[in-house]
Amino acid sequence: MKSIKVGLLGFGTIGTGVVRVFQRNAELMAKRIGQSVELVKIADLDITSDRGVTLPQGVLTTDVEEVISNPEVDVVVELIGGYEPAKSFILKAIANGKHIVTANKALMAVHGQEIISAANKNGVQVMFEAAVGGGIPIISAIKENLCANRFSTVLGILNGTCNYILTKMTDEGSDFAPVLKEAQELGYAEADPTFDVEGVDTAHKIALLAALCFGTRVDFDQVYTEGVSNIAAIDIQFATQMGYKIKLLAIGKSNGEQIEVRVHPTMIPKSYQLSEVDGVFNAVRLSGDFLGPAMLYGSGAGMDATASAVMGDVMAIGRDMASGAKGRTPIMAYCADQVGELPIKQMSDIVSHYYLRFTTVDRPGVLAQISGILGKYDISIQSMIQPERHEADAVPIVLMTHDAKESNINQALAEIDQLEIVQQPTRLIRVENSLD
Ligand code: HSE
Repeated sequence: MKSIKVGLLGFGTIGTGVVRVFQRNAELMAKRIGQSVELVKIADLDITSDRGVTLPQGVLTTDVEEVISNPEVDVVVELIGGYEPAKSFILKAIANGKHIVTANKALMAVHGQEIISAANKNGVQVMFEAAVGGGIPIISAIKENLCANRFSTVLGILNGTCNYILTKMTDEGSDFAPVLKEAQELGYAEADPTFDVEGVDTAHKIALLAALCFGTRVDFDQVYTEGVSNIAAIDIQFATQMGYKIKLLAIGKSNGEQIEVRVHPTMIPKSYQLSEVDGVFNAVRLSGDFLGPAMLYGSGAGMDATASAVMGDVMAIGRDMASGAKGRTPIMAYCADQVGELPIKQMSDIVSHYYLRFTTVDRPGVLAQISGILGKYDISIQSMIQPERHEADAVPIVLMTHDAKESNINQALAEIDQLEIVQQPTRLIRVENSLD
């Protein structure tokens, strides 16, 4: 039986998961792809810590060249994360004719073009299923099974850490900080958790999904990104009262000429399937013109689920190598010369319903002043909550708007927040309730 030889860069959480797959399922993998899959080298700076797995003598090395320049290695699996040195190692491995499998969403979202051009030039494959949605096979679904569809939307809950935090805050009324700590201890969070909680990790992922679905380059710097660190318990309570859940939603939309790619806390009706995606789970909902809507759901982070995605990519490359099918599937789902440059809609141009929480003094005429300004900017109110006053100096007034343009909302809030009756900056949360 022939064999496909794998070298690993990075022996952290996911790297350990990959070793676990080899240990438990090597035979099964061989049965499925008709050749054995062998882990020949793992390079990491730390080769002494106990990861709870055993490896044959000589597999571990601190010398990265033993992976990226090893003539024996067919596929280099990059699990270091971050931009450098991961990027340089990948480029060198590509120059050496290695296929690449990576879980590195930051690198692919920001420097993907450089890596993909190098791979196309050298006739090697780059696969990154593990970069988005952990174990959920969303990228291969877009690239393979659903590739006859024109996609109009792709949206999802793509960060397990944020979803875990929001779920706990919703279910238990917990505070943000201790829940973040728990998520870190469970191994879900990035090394730098600000990437999780400030939405950057989610933005990397939706930039990749939007590019794959809509056949366009996505300039990561233009992806609007807002995280969950400012979500207050009171907003979760009001959302619940109004029949919504707050999720960190990654949103990609296309009308064929312009795309939306954005990440922000979003209120979604409790009746939506997406609102039931709780804890560390992720889900992606996409709409194709022939498929209609579909949702993929599963473990979005963690050692084993992510390792499952990594090894799926390794096996796909193994199959292509065995059949001699070089470049069978374009790296970004469209043939390289067919990838477009659709502009990303400015946030000021998006149209949405908005949840607005004003903090005001409680006296006659307050509501009239606020609604007057909203009316001036063509913002129509759908519903309102004003809880009974409990001797507080400042009281919340919560309004839900009909569809409004974000530039109008911004102008109205700038004016409202200048009013003498307004005690704190108004809180805005976008609402997604028009899924196609
Ligand atoms: N930190 C990420 C998360 C891991 O919490 O979802 C998977 O990308």
